[in-house]
Amino acid sequence: MASDLPPLRIDLGERSYPIVFSGSFDLLADAARPCVAGRACAVVTNEAVGGLYGDAVCAALEAAGGRAQRFLLPDGEERKNLRTLECLLEGFARAGMSRTAVVVALGGGVVGDIAGFAAAAYMRGVDCIQVPTTLLAQVDSSVGGKTGVNLAAGKNLAGAFHQPRLVFINWNTLATLPPREARAGYAEVIKYGIIADAPLFEQLERETPGIIAALCATPARVPAALGAIIRRCCAIKADVVGRDEREGGLRAILNYGHTFAHAVEALTAYGEYVHGEAVAIGMHAAARLAAGLGLCDAALVARQARLLEAAGLPTAFPALEFDAVLAAFGRDKKSRGATLRFVLPRRIGAVEIIENTDMTALRAAIAPGGGSMHQRARR
Ligand SMILES: NC(=O)c1ccc[n+]([C@@H]2O[C@H](COP(=O)([O-])OP(=O)(O)OC[C@H]3O[C@@H](n4cnc5c(N)ncnc54)[C@H](O)[C@@H]3O)[C@@H](O)[C@H]2O)c1
Ligand SMILES: [Zn+2]
Repeated sequence: MASDLPPLRIDLGERSYPIVFSGSFDLLADAARPCVAGRACAVVTNEAVGGLYGDAVCAALEAAGGRAQRFLLPDGEERKNLRTLECLLEGFARAGMSRTAVVVALGGGVVGDIAGFAAAAYMRGVDCIQVPTTLLAQVDSSVGGKTGVNLAAGKNLAGAFHQPRLVFINWNTLATLPPREARAGYAEVIKYGIIADAPLFEQLERETPGIIAALCATPARVPAALGAIIRRCCAIKADVVGRDEREGGLRAILNYGHTFAHAVEALTAYGEYVHGEAVAIGMHAAARLAAGLGLCDAALVARQARLLEAAGLPTAFPALEFDAVLAAFGRDKKSRGATLRFVLPRRIGAVEIIENTDMTALRAAIAPGGGSMHQRARR
């Protein structure tokens, strides 16, 4: 398959699929043809992203022999709920979409998660193509088949595993991303370096200032190196998901920093930090905990903090009650029963899952401060 960088394949038997990487939508028609020719395509997007890229994507789907129709979702995490899902499914039905329809998710993780879940549920499952347009969605949420919406009781509590047929990544869509979203997605990029790839981490140490400056400039530019970095992140996720599709064990390493991040997000009522910022704070706390437990040296904590800060991300843990943080860990759906589980770094490129840690070390790891505070302003 033509691609501006070699495509990747997610290996899941009959549910295997390609990830195509390109600097434009020119290759989308060829990539999508096998799954859209002669079929109705429900292009699910929002006003902002649809306004920027909807025409190009619909034109490619038509060129591939599909019949494209747009469905607009409201923007924002607070609308990632059952009500929005219901409206979308009713919309599919009103439009006469059949079992052979293909859902095309065009947008960030919110659109991808809702559209993916709608594809899993509509007529007990129709095909789905992910066309992610945020850095977070390109390196994380569009790959791996997790879909879902939030419930009042918590984030992503209703959902399904539904693998897409194709993920098409056009990294140049990142040129229109708000700078804060670009930096937040970058936290997940740094995460891949720590959990699995020391050379990637070293490359990020060298190139982050230039990449972030270009992404946050007006007008923004997407540096050539970023496409290959995104591909590398997807390759790591593909490898992990290929070995553990349903999070039996290994897939948990993708949650590095996330136990802390979810607690920070919940205890600040999802109003203060975007997800990637909370992940940056969470990775710093995890590294401090690992150092406190003697699992890694203090130099790792400092190196990771320098890289996060070079990307303009915060690292300081906010002032929260220790007991409230512990209670939030307990509510995190990824912790099992009363056991606390943390993904902790051993060295750059290698993490370990540790259960039930020492409370004194945990308290020290999330002591307020101990890092950089910038980027804390409300949106
Ligand atoms: N399914 C998974 O495995 C998985 C993994 C990680 C995160 N997620 C989910 O992803 C969601 C977060 O996704 P996100 O960070 O992409 O946020 P998002 O989807 O809310 O997008 C952020 C903002 O950027 C806008 N936008 C998107 N692409 C743009 C572009 N190219 N140009 C200009 N504006 C653009 C969006 O309209 C939105 O306002 C969360 O709901 C999270 O739970 C899912
Ligand atoms: Zn994340």
